[in-house]
Amino acid sequence: MSFLVTNIGELVTNNPAVGEGPLGIVRDAALSVADGRVEWVGRARHAPAADRGLDAEGCAVLPGFVDSHAHLVFAGDRATEFAARMAGEPYTGGGIRRTVSATRAATDDELRENVARLREEALRQGTTTIEIKSGYGLTVADETRSLRIAREFTQDTTFLGAHVVPAEFTDRPDDYVSLVCGPMLRSAAPFARWVDVFCERGAFDADHSRAILTVGQAAGLGVRVHANQLGPGPGVRLAVELDAASADHCTHLSDVDIEALAGSKTVATLLPGAEFSTRSPYPDARRLLDAGTTVALATDCNPGSSFTSSMPFCIALAVREMRMTPAEAVWAATAGGARALRRTDIGQLRTGAAADLVILDAPSHLHLAYRPGVPLVRHVMHNGVLIP
Ligand code: NIG
Ligand code: FE
Repeated sequence: MSFLVTNIGELVTNNPAVGEGPLGIVRDAALSVADGRVEWVGRARHAPAADRGLDAEGCAVLPGFVDSHAHLVFAGDRATEFAARMAGEPYTGGGIRRTVSATRAATDDELRENVARLREEALRQGTTTIEIKSGYGLTVADETRSLRIAREFTQDTTFLGAHVVPAEFTDRPDDYVSLVCGPMLRSAAPFARWVDVFCERGAFDADHSRAILTVGQAAGLGVRVHANQLGPGPGVRLAVELDAASADHCTHLSDVDIEALAGSKTVATLLPGAEFSTRSPYPDARRLLDAGTTVALATDCNPGSSFTSSMPFCIALAVREMRMTPAEAVWAATAGGARALRRTDIGQLRTGAAADLVILDAPSHLHLAYRPGVPLVRHVMHNGVLIP
């Protein structure tokens, strides 16, 4: 069964070989899909015949958004903490332990329902791929079940046993790191593709982070790091040292950090929802881009620092607050996210790629930043299936 999307006013392919600019834009385009993959992309007048079709009515079509950083497995919310911040309290990450208590107390079904609700919410806003972390369990059993549940929703699951040191280990951080590196990793790894650490003052220092990431890597997991979110630190350089797929947050960077990123394969994943929701200064994307670093955008969806599942919102913030052009932000939210997950099958619309796409209720990708807060995603296709 083949499917043709036609009458596309502006098709963002992210393949500069077939269209204009870095987004590889093709105008008056069509795209055909078979077996969940993109089969053909080009000018509408050359389109092949298909069993079924959809008229895009001159609107823009983009690759589905790739949200490469989300913490969806949790219970409860922290709206009161948000209100306190908006009244002047700083964000320290201290509330993570509240979510850990709520998560431990929840049943599997409660956690699963929460993930399903947020996954659905993201999909309706155009997110066709999402990474999901553990990190609110922090016991062997709770981290393992968090990942088992996350696996029901995505192949890109991340073991974040090193989110914070849980209350019961406050005076024994070394013992907690041993637990994470040993029994917790052994139990969690079968359900994880990635290992992550919150490398930050108040969470895990460089030595602990390196120890955890290195054993994770030896267990076959790819590396990602929560780095330089709340202040300067060793996270970004550690990420580069270990050839991490991504260093996430990158809010407080030195020239040395930027140079290290620019000379590496590690993507800088920026999470402007976190700065928005913690009323903090945004990372300087311009500085990273001008240095030649690959930049991704993601939501960081979590109940504490960034409770949004909206990639269009992050694109708008990146353009308005982080000096990214609309084209750079759209690329970062699609192809950039794919790079941050080291995936070549998503984030672009070329023959053979996953048929994951978004049809906007707008003539151009520019509208994602130009019309902030407006629900512009009209249709979403995931693996060749139109989401009802
Ligand atoms: O990415 N930085 C650490 N973890 C999350 C916040 C988690 C929370 O506050 O619950 C983040 O921002
Ligand atoms: Fe995060």
